[in-house]
Formats: sequence, structure tokens, C-alpha cells
Amino acid sequence: MADLSIDFKGIKSPNPFWIASGPPGNTGYQAKKAFEAGWGGVVWKTLGDPIINTSSRYGSVDYAGRKMMGFNNIELITDRGLSVNLKEIAEVKKAFPNHAVIASVMVESKEAWQTIIRRVEDTGADGFELNFGCPHGMCERGMGSAVGQEPLVLKEITAWVKEFTKLPVLVKLTPNISDIIDPALAAIESQADGVSLINTLKSIVGVDLDDFTPIPKLRNGAASGGYCGPAVKPIALHMVATLAKHPDFTIPMSGIGGISDWRDAAEFIALGCTSVQVCTAVMHYGFRIVEDLSSGLNSYLDSKGMKSINELRGKAVPQYQDWGDLDLNYKTIAKINPETCIGCQLCYIACEDGAHQCIALPAPASRQRMPLIQEEDCVGCNLCALVCPVPDCIQMVDVSETEELESWNDLMQAGHKFEDGVL
Ligand SMILES: Cc1cc2nc3c(=O)[nH]c(=O)nc-3n(C[C@H](O)[C@H](O)[C@H](O)COP(=O)(O)O)c2cc1C
Ligand code: SF4
Ligand code: SF4
Repeated sequence: MADLSIDFKGIKSPNPFWIASGPPGNTGYQAKKAFEAGWGGVVWKTLGDPIINTSSRYGSVDYAGRKMMGFNNIELITDRGLSVNLKEIAEVKKAFPNHAVIASVMVESKEAWQTIIRRVEDTGADGFELNFGCPHGMCERGMGSAVGQEPLVLKEITAWVKEFTKLPVLVKLTPNISDIIDPALAAIESQADGVSLINTLKSIVGVDLDDFTPIPKLRNGAASGGYCGPAVKPIALHMVATLAKHPDFTIPMSGIGGISDWRDAAEFIALGCTSVQVCTAVMHYGFRIVEDLSSGLNSYLDSKGMKSINELRGKAVPQYQDWGDLDLNYKTIAKINPETCIGCQLCYIACEDGAHQCIALPAPASRQRMPLIQEEDCVGCNLCALVCPVPDCIQMVDVSETEELESWNDLMQAGHKFEDGVL
């Protein structure tokens, strides 16, 4: 069994799996239940000034039979009293001293930050996460993503918090921004100990075509909400990788966004994350999913001969390249396995209408169904392999003519010129 324990800049956790700030981390009852189930940490539902939540507040995108492929909410921060939350945080921390309890916080003024930081410190919590990500409701009051989208404001508020506490401070980043590196570097400049990303993406999940109201709807209309769940994982991975690759980004990351199983978690860790956080998948399937996260990650690390999770962290970062450095001499073509092809011809129509017209159909007289790849024309785009419903039936085969690597940047540096679109 590999060692899954982590030390996130002083926040110790028996494993990298944390409940993200949201409904599953709303109460002491839930935090205790999460720890008993096997979670390593809980980021408490964001504490702050009093709010009122709307009654209808969640929406979902179901796709091809999968419920909650994407999830949307217009929920604000905690709607429970601060003293109740603080009392429960203290109780949880006392009952689970070796687990990570992190207080997510979002308030308006410098004085309010100072007061809430002091009060949270008294609970024994292990650290803070500053919610600069909420894209609805709070941003309209100058908080949440309104701060996260303004690196200078983010820097100033984070610096206040660092002035008020010695505990580790994570800045939670909003993905509703053109370049994630800007707020991340601002967090570093203000001495933040780490960042967590991503919070939710501004979104509308649908429109009711009978009453013409976007979803989720209230009696008098609807508002944009925050999108999360499996659909956002690729966006989150991209943002995590962008930070991991940047030479000036030097602090640990807590990865969030669409994590549902151990593979998702392993991907975030391979791209450089120290811990991972989960919200939607717990709302969907419950705290028990941590069993798959732990046993799956453990078996995977064993299969790779890795003794601790530290050996996995960042393993995929060196292979994450700028497009201009990719090897243009690498060539693949599609090959169909005649043993497993069911003759549905989806690959044919995809290549014919949506790619490069290099799959032919067998002559009707042959009574065959398996299409034929015209290898000399195949550009190796992968589309046919992606649409094929039979696992591994179409393989992309390496037919590179040289081992020598040549990238776009190499070509430009060598002064190559194009003539009528051809090199
Ligand atoms: C209903 C709901 C409420 C949330 N509330 C908070 C919150 O109070 N504070 C916060 O920082 N993030 C909040 N989030 C965002 C999550 O912590 C997380 O960043 C996001 O959902 C992406 O992770 P996921 O795909 O695992 O859900 C909330 C998300 C949902 C779905
Ligand atoms: S890889 Fe692309 S170009 Fe080649 S056969 Fe498949 S769809 Fe066509
Ligand atoms: S999509 Fe796959 S199964 Fe269907 S014809 Fe093409 S190779 Fe065969």
C-alpha cells in the first residue's frame, strides 16, 4: 500500500481527498460523516456575511443517459449563523485532530476579514481558503469572482489575510477569466501558501421552451449560475497544467472540477496538484465514493511501483507542451481490427462528411460491411477511432518515417517559407 498522506504547506491530511466547499461540507454532522467514510479533509461551506438563498437553485445537464454530466447552481455561501458554524468546526477538529479542516471565507471589508479570521483561528481549523470564485450573487456585491477577476484586488485582500493569520492560506481561483496565471501570480505576490482551482463557470444550463425561462427557474425568472461536475474537468485540468508549467508559479495546488473517481484524481495529481477536492460527485453519489478514490489510487500507485503519492505528483507536467514545440514528424494512421468490427460504418460517415474522405465502403456485391482505410490519404486525426463504438477496434498506428523531432518552432527558426500554403 502506497503512502497517500500529504502535507499542504503545513495542512496535514491522511490522504489527498478533500470535500470541496459546498453543500457536502455545510455542517459538522456532514464533516464527521465524511471523515468516518475516509475523506482526508473538508473545506467548510464558505463562511461570511448573512445571505438568503433562493428556493429553486440547482440545474443539470443530463447527456446520453448520464445524469448530472454538468451541474449548475445559484446557491450562495452558508446560510447558517457564523457562531453555529464555528462551534461545529471546533467540535469536528477536536474529534478528528489528524484530518484537515479548512475554513472557506468570503467577507467584504478589511475589518470584517480581520474579525472572521480571528474567530476561525479560535476553532483550531488548519487553514483558510479564500473564496474569490463564486460567480453569482456574491460577485454582484463586490465579492467572490468580482475579486478573483481583478488580480490587484485579490492581491490586496490576500495580503490582509496573511497579515492577520499565521495559518496556511489558499486562494480559490475563478475560471471566469481570460488567463488563470494572472490571479495565480497575484496570489503568490501576496504570499498565499497555495491556490485551489477551479470554482464554477458562469453558465445557463437550458431554457424551458414552454414558458421561455432559463433554468433553474424561480417564479419571476432565472439567473446565470456556476457550472461544475464532469463536464468541467477538461477546463480545470487545462488551468491546473497552465499553472504547473509556468516558471514563476511556485506554490502548491488543490485541484477541483469534475472529479468523480480515482482516475480523475490521479490526473489532477499527475498535473501537479497536492490535494484534490470534490463537490458534485459527492452530491450525486454520497461520501462513499472515497472508497473508490482511495483503493483505486492505491492499486494504481502499486501497479506503477510508486511508494508514495509524491512520486506521482507532476509526472505529466514535462509532457505538457506548447503547440509550437510538438513533433510534426510524428505520423499515425487508422487501422481497423477485422476481428472486432461490427460493420456499423460510423467511422466511414465521420471521415467522409466530417474529416478527410479517406475511408471507403466495400463494394455492395462483396456483402462485406467493414470499411477500408485508404492509408495513403489518412492524416491521423483520430476521429474514426473516437466515433467507433467498439473499444480499441480502430487503433492509431505509428508510421513515422523518421525518429528526428521537428516542430513548428524549429521550422520557423530554420527560416522555412510557405508557398501557396505548402512548405
Ligand atoms: C451547490 C454548490 C454550492 C457551492 N458552494 C460553494 C461555496 O460556498 N464556496 C466555494 O468556494 N465553492 C462553492 N462551490 C464550488 C465547489 O466548491 C467547486 O469548486 C465546484 O463545484 C467544482 O467542483 P465539482 O466539479 O467537484 O463540483 C459550490 C458548488 C456547488 C455545486
Ligand atoms: S484518422 Fe481521420 S483521416 Fe484517418 S481515416 Fe480516421 S477519420 Fe479519416
Ligand atoms: S465504427 Fe468501428 S465498428 Fe463501426 S464500421 Fe467502423 S471500425 Fe467497424
